[in-house]
Amino acid sequence: MTQLNLVLLGPPGAGKGTQAARMREDLGLSHIATGDLLRRHRSEGTDLGEQAAAYMADGQLVPDDLVVAMIREEIATGADGGFLLDGFPRTIAQADALTDALSAEGSAVTAVLLIDAPDELLTERISGRRMCPAGHVFHVKHNPPIREGICDRDGESLRLRDDDRAETVRQRLDVYHEVTEPLASYYEEHRLLHRIDGTRSADAVYEAIQTVVGRIMTGAAA
Ligand code: AP5
Repeated sequence: MTQLNLVLLGPPGAGKGTQAARMREDLGLSHIATGDLLRRHRSEGTDLGEQAAAYMADGQLVPDDLVVAMIREEIATGADGGFLLDGFPRTIAQADALTDALSAEGSAVTAVLLIDAPDELLTERISGRRMCPAGHVFHVKHNPPIREGICDRDGESLRLRDDDRAETVRQRLDVYHEVTEPLASYYEEHRLLHRIDGTRSADAVYEAIQTVVGRIMTGAAA
């Protein structure tokens, strides 16, 4: 079969990062998370990180040209087993740029998985999220660490992400509904969209994803 290039679409807190961590191991895909990449640029103090910081702190999208240039570089680096794009694209312009970048490599998006949940649930998930500096993610109620406030994986302190404060989360949700949600119709028209109910437990969501991906890999999905 041809290279598997999957896009994870969904609002803040839907569980994209949580599911991506499982998918990349099981499917051997190269995981490209634009939020993680931008946070790394920010902590390394690169030009891109400095330009992106104010947008991220305000819960706004980083301008398309900056994010697209970053993604083009990642895609050009190549991944034989395929890509798992997490948090990209988020605008129609980014989706068009992705199509162009992949087609330049003789490739295309295989499928888009939209993990969705209502805003109240997303807000609860985000307010309880705790992360270590390396990006390992926990939740105070749904996925607590063994020792409170300490990462199980590397023993570092867990903290709230900078943009997870209530007022910024409201802004991120508004931006999602206004600018990113229209991508669902865009990919539906391209017959690439698969909706996943993100309200269930992380295990149940993963089972639903496995079912969809299994159908895609056997060519049974529409
Ligand atoms: P980004 O880092 O991509 O954030 P996001 O899309 O807002 O998504 P989150 O990371 O908040 O949530 P998630 O869906 O990964 O949920 P998670 O698995 O952690 O982007 C941050 C910023 O960068 C943007 O605001 C923007 O400024 C910029 N940016 C990024 N990409 C960009 C782009 N393409 N263009 C322009 N700007 C861009 O789960 C959340 C919590 O819930 C965790 O605690 C987890 O343990 C828990 N949880 C997960 N699933 C479940 C479940 N099923 N049940 C119970 N708890 C669960």
